Amino acid sequence: MCGIVGGVAERNVVPILLEGLRRLEYRGYDSSGIALLNSTESPKKASFQIQRLRAVGKIKELDSKIQQNSFFDGNIGIAHTRWATHGVPSENNAHPHICNNEVAVVHNGIIENYHILKEAQLAEGYRFTSETDTEVVAHAVHYELKTSTSLLSAVQQAITHFEGAYALGVISPKFPDTLIAARKGSPLVIGVGIGEFFIASDVSALLPVTQNFIFLEEGDVAELTRQGVTIFNGDGEQVEREVKQSSLNMHSVELGDHRHYMHKEIFEQPQAVIDTLEGRISQEHVLPSAFGYQAESIFKEVKQVQIIACGTSYHAGLVSKYWFEDIIGLPCSVEVASEYRYRNPVVQDNTLFVTISQSGETADTLAALQQIKQVANEKNVSTLTICNVPESSLTRESDLTFLTHAGPEIGVASTKAFTTQLVALSLLVTVIGKLQKRISERRETIIVKGLQKLPGLIQSALAHEEVVKEIAKNFSDKDNALFLGRGTMYPIAMEGALKLKEISYIHAEAYPAGELKHGPLALIDENIPVIAIAPHNDLLEKLKSNLQEVKARGGQMIVFEDEQSNVGSEDGLHVVKTTTNVGRITAPITFNVPLQLLAYHVALIKGTDVDQPRNLAKSVTVE
Ligand code: G6P
Repeated sequence: MCGIVGGVAERNVVPILLEGLRRLEYRGYDSSGIALLNSTESPKKASFQIQRLRAVGKIKELDSKIQQNSFFDGNIGIAHTRWATHGVPSENNAHPHICNNEVAVVHNGIIENYHILKEAQLAEGYRFTSETDTEVVAHAVHYELKTSTSLLSAVQQAITHFEGAYALGVISPKFPDTLIAARKGSPLVIGVGIGEFFIASDVSALLPVTQNFIFLEEGDVAELTRQGVTIFNGDGEQVEREVKQSSLNMHSVELGDHRHYMHKEIFEQPQAVIDTLEGRISQEHVLPSAFGYQAESIFKEVKQVQIIACGTSYHAGLVSKYWFEDIIGLPCSVEVASEYRYRNPVVQDNTLFVTISQSGETADTLAALQQIKQVANEKNVSTLTICNVPESSLTRESDLTFLTHAGPEIGVASTKAFTTQLVALSLLVTVIGKLQKRISERRETIIVKGLQKLPGLIQSALAHEEVVKEIAKNFSDKDNALFLGRGTMYPIAMEGALKLKEISYIHAEAYPAGELKHGPLALIDENIPVIAIAPHNDLLEKLKSNLQEVKARGGQMIVFEDEQSNVGSEDGLHVVKTTTNVGRITAPITFNVPLQLLAYHVALIKGTDVDQPRNLAKSVTVE
């Protein structure tokens, strides 16, 4: 999704903005741009003008335009990476958008009523040079500037006309010391330096310049100058917002020796699990404080769990449904947010409404949460978010928060965030089970011991990278793949298929193995690789029969198994032991690892852009 960076400083802000854009690349984008206020100083009076450069493609395209333009510098500027929603990726549609050389704007979100605003602005005589919804913002601010005494009040007036979501950065040569930021429905943080202040879509963009941040709240408008930041809430009242120190540092988001962030993040999983468990478990128990002390009374009363999420996070939810119902006998439903929010779901009393999200900003998930909060009191519904980003919108809107400590995830295809979401969900199942006396202390201890072994299990799965790399060669000329699993391995198969399609662009589908004969068996021939996940569990014999069904039709299978599965290699059936014996909770987490590596190595062979796959975004802030 679009990324915003901006700043006002005594020094030239261009390198800071450019580095900020690079750090936001992971969000996904197709074009970028920067606008600055540049002074044309005369001995008597400095006058300012907007300078803008934009480019389609990667940041390096923008960078090379900047390099060719030796006068492109300034102390105040805004920059943007655009992920096309309205209008194709093109230089004209790239931000910043400018009106009459008096206003420059960057925007993340969607102005839903832009058609109506555009008609009115055309009637006023404004001309449009892009197909974007954002251009109406530039015109609206310009219009208000005619009667405003400050850029702040012009923006405050303009936003009263907008419906939808926005994070905005606005500058004007009429007010050359001021940068205005506004947020509603899209994320925006302020970076606090000494005599310099910045804005960005997330903290990672600004870590090279500061570790101190103000997290703007819904409806906030902020005025940034070199002297400080003044913030106003949606009612126009001046408010104080706390400055918080980020625990991240600029090296947390560096690539190190890895070729891609995705590879780095796959290999960070053992540590991510350790960090997520830290302070949440003792030797034998899950600590009562794992979900916050106020969680205890809520969890005791929960009668069912409703999980809402998107993409990979949805798959984490699906795995936990098996755990909730199988291990503690608590009903659990899981649904994708974009469906849930637009139907009329029946909300049962005493539901725990769990949102799962690596970014904490996914628009559909957030909307579903906001919707459920409207009936929360009447139905005694409590909300919990499992999220990897502190201070994100989901964490701020939920009653309870469990922060996964995966560290920043840059690769668009989620890996370590997924693994830590599963760890969080296993703790949730255990805590609720314990509080409601649905599991014994002994069972709790078995789960905790299993989780303690998890980093080692993941490590041993990672050690099979070379084997998986060899297998990946079979996919070089393939256009389709089928993933099979049963029980918790079915959502893991879904996740494996999603990873493969996201980054290698191979069409991949996942099926519960028992459902094969109801359709997908018709697809089987020697050209469609079938990947099966075969842990040693109650369903293994059933799975083996399903594999024979594939074999009988000439299918080519790759089976990932553990030390006790003994599926046995034969013609058309290539078996790889990727892990030692695993338990009910550790199995899906561990078996996911070779599937991540498989997707990664197939993508390398296919030569795709692994960390920023085409058309996809890391943080999906539009519905
Ligand atoms: C995007 C990302 C996925 C992610 C999904 C849900 O599609 O590319 O990796 O799973 O959004 O995002 P969330 O932040 O809510 O987990």
